[in-house]
Amino acid sequence: MKVKHLIDLEDLTTPELMEIIELANAIKDNPADYAERCRGKILATLFYEPSTRTQMSFKTAMLRLGGSVIGFDNPQNSSVSKGESLKDTITVVGGYADIIAIRHSMEGTAKAASLYSAAPVINAGDGGHLHPTQTLTDVVTLYNEKGSLDNMCIGLCGDLKNGRTVHSFIKTMSHFKGNRFVLISTPELTVPQYIKDVMNASGCRYTEVRSLAEAIPMLDMLYMTRIQRERFKSYDEYEKQKGVFVLDREKMMLAKADMKILHPLPRVDEIAEDVDYDSRAKYFIQTVYGMYARMALIIKMLENADRKPMARRFDTHHIRCTNPNCITYTEEYLPKLFRPLGGDMVLCRYCEGRNLI
Ligand code: CP
Repeated sequence: MKVKHLIDLEDLTTPELMEIIELANAIKDNPADYAERCRGKILATLFYEPSTRTQMSFKTAMLRLGGSVIGFDNPQNSSVSKGESLKDTITVVGGYADIIAIRHSMEGTAKAASLYSAAPVINAGDGGHLHPTQTLTDVVTLYNEKGSLDNMCIGLCGDLKNGRTVHSFIKTMSHFKGNRFVLISTPELTVPQYIKDVMNASGCRYTEVRSLAEAIPMLDMLYMTRIQRERFKSYDEYEKQKGVFVLDREKMMLAKADMKILHPLPRVDEIAEDVDYDSRAKYFIQTVYGMYARMALIIKMLENADRKPMARRFDTHHIRCTNPNCITYTEEYLPKLFRPLGGDMVLCRYCEGRNLI
C-alpha cells in the first residue's frame, strides 16, 4: 500500500482494494497460515465513541494475527478526561503502538490524528463523515455473497445524511463499473452534497425515492441503516424520523430471490426480527467478514509502514471550517487545511465540508 494512513477508502487504488479483499479471503480459508503474522506488533484502539463490532473486530483481528492490543474504549478513563488534546494523545500513543485505530464523534478526527502520529492511523469512524473499514467489511461480504462488485442496482435506505457507513460505501462502489444507486430516505435525511458530487463525477446514475416498497423489486442489494439518534439536535427531531422505513417479511416478498441485505449494525427497529431467518439476510455473517477484512488491512498497513512523524503542516487558507461538527472546532490548534474546488469554494480536508473563501 502506498499510503501510510487509512482515512478514507479513496486513499487506496482499486487494485490495492482488491488485494485486501483477496487477502481477507485467503485468511478466511487458511487462518492458521496467518496466526503469527503480527507477532510482536501492537495495535492501539482509541475509541472516543461507543462501539461493539469495530472495536472488538479490530482487537480480535490483531490477536488472531499473533499481535497485542492496548487502548481505551471510554475516554473518561484516560487523560482525555483531564483535558489532554488529540494531538498530545496521538503523539504519545504513536510512540507506544505500531498501528492505531481511532473512532471519534467529530468529523475529520482521523485525518487530524494522522498529522501527529508516527504510527499508521486507521479511521474507525469519524462522526457522521466516513467509516472506511465498515466499507471494507461490506465489499468483502458482497464479493463473497454476490461474486462481484460490478453492475448492481444498490439500494440504500434510512439515515443517508448522518450514516457514515453510507457515505464510505457509495464512494467506494461508485468506482466499480455499472453500479447505480437508489437512495431511499425522507427529504430530511438525504445524502450530503459531497456524496452526490462523487456519484456525478464517476458517472454513476442515482435516484432519490421515498418508498422502500416501491424501490425493493429492482434492487440487487439493499443496505439498510438505522436512524442515527446521536447525531440529532433534539430527541423530538429524531422521533419524527424513527420507524419511517422498516424492512419486514411483506416487503421481502417483493424483492428478487438473490437480493442481499446488508446492514452495518447496530439495528434498532428498521429490520423486523423475522427477516433474520431469510437466506438473503447477510448482516450477521457480514460482521465475521469484517474481522477478516481488518486482519488483511492490518497486515497490508504494517508491511511498508515507516515510523516517521508527518512533516508540520501550515494553514492553507485563513478561514475556519463552518461545519460545527468538524474537528477543527474543538481542536483549535489544528492547521486550517482546504482544497480549492474552483471559484470561491474550498473543501475542508478534515471533514469535506464546503466553505466559501
Ligand atoms: N458497524 C459499526 O460500526 O458497529 P459498531 O458501532 O458497533 O462498531
